[in-house]
Amino acid sequence: MSTTALTVSSITKRFDDFLAVDRVSFSVYPGQICGFIGPNGAGKTTTMRIAATLDLPDEGDVSVYGASVLLEPRLVRKQLGFMPDSYGAYPSTTVEEYLDFFARAYGLRGRGRRNALNYVSDFTGLDRLAGKQIDALSKGMKQRLCLAKTLLHDPGFLILDEPAAGLDPRARVELRELVRALADMGKGVLISSHILSELSNLVDSIAVIESGRIQGAGTVDEILKKLRPHMRVFLRCIADNETVERALLERPNVTSVHSERNGLAFDFDGDQRALAELVAHFVTIGLGPIEFAPQSVDLEDVFLSLTEGVMS
Ligand SMILES: Nc1ncnc2c1ncn2[C@@H]1O[C@H](COP(=O)(O)OP(=O)(O)OP(=O)(O)O)[C@@H](O)[C@H]1O
Ligand SMILES: [Mg+2]
Repeated sequence: MSTTALTVSSITKRFDDFLAVDRVSFSVYPGQICGFIGPNGAGKTTTMRIAATLDLPDEGDVSVYGASVLLEPRLVRKQLGFMPDSYGAYPSTTVEEYLDFFARAYGLRGRGRRNALNYVSDFTGLDRLAGKQIDALSKGMKQRLCLAKTLLHDPGFLILDEPAAGLDPRARVELRELVRALADMGKGVLISSHILSELSNLVDSIAVIESGRIQGAGTVDEILKKLRPHMRVFLRCIADNETVERALLERPNVTSVHSERNGLAFDFDGDQRALAELVAHFVTIGLGPIEFAPQSVDLEDVFLSLTEGVMS
C-alpha cells in the first residue's frame, strides 16, 4: 500500500461532556482529493482543526506525510496548508500587502518570497488585483486570496474547510479547477462540504461523517458498490401495472417492485445482460415496454443513504 498523505487514526474530541468527534479514522493519498461530507455539526471542522494542529485530540492521532500532530506539530505545519471556513477581516490592506505579510510570517525571505508571491498570485489569478483593497473584493476573489495564502509555503497537503460556500456557480467551477490542478501536482487534498453537487465531479474518495462518527469511507466506486448491490429501474408498459408486476416478480434477479407515478420501479441485482434479457422477454410476451430507465446513483444518494444509517 502506498504511503498516505494524511492518516486520521481513531481521533476522539470532547467539548465538556459533548462528544464532537468519535473514533474517526480515514486516509488520503498523495495526488488525491478526499471529500469530507456531513451535515452541519457533524464534526468536520473539529476534525480538520485537529489535523491542522490548531486543536488537540483527546484520543488518537493524525499524521501528515508521516509526521504526528501530537509529536511533531512543527513538521506537520510545514507540510500543511489549512484554509478555514472563515477568516478575519483586514481593513485597509491590499491583496499584495496581505500575501506579503503571510509570506514573511512563513519565514520566506528575499527571492524565495518574491517567487512564492508571484507563483500563488499567478496560480489563483490574483496578479491583476495586487493593489486592490481586500474589503472591496468579491466573495469569490476573497476565497482565492485565502487559497493563495494557504499555498505560499508550498504545502504537500491541503485542508480546505467549505471553500465553495457562498460562491456563485462560475466561481465554484473555477475553484474546482484550482483544486484539481493542485492534486495533479501530487498534493493531497481534504475538502469539506455539505453540498454534494459541489464535490461529485471533483473527489477521488469520500469520508462521510455524521454525529462525530464516520459512516463510510473509501473511493466513490467502492462506496457505490457497497451501497448498491442492486439497481433501481423505472418501467412503464402498455399492459396494466398489475400484469407487469406479476411478470416482474416471476423474473430472476428482480428483488422487489414498487408503484410509481405512471409506472413501476423494481430493484434488480443482476448484470446488464440479464437486464437486457428481461426487456427482450417483456417485448416477446406482449407487455409493450415503452419506458425503461435504470436510475443512476450519485454522490447525493450515497450521502442520504449513509446519513440515514443504511450502511451501519
Ligand atoms: N469550541 C467548541 N466548544 C463547544 N462545542 C463545540 C466547539 N466546536 C465545535 N463544537 C460542537 O461540536 C460539534 C461539531 O462541530 P463542527 O464545527 O466540527 O461541525 P461541522 O461538521 O464543521 O459543521 P458545519 O457544517 O456546520 O460547519 C457541533 O455540535 C459543535 O457545536
Ligand atoms: Mg464546519
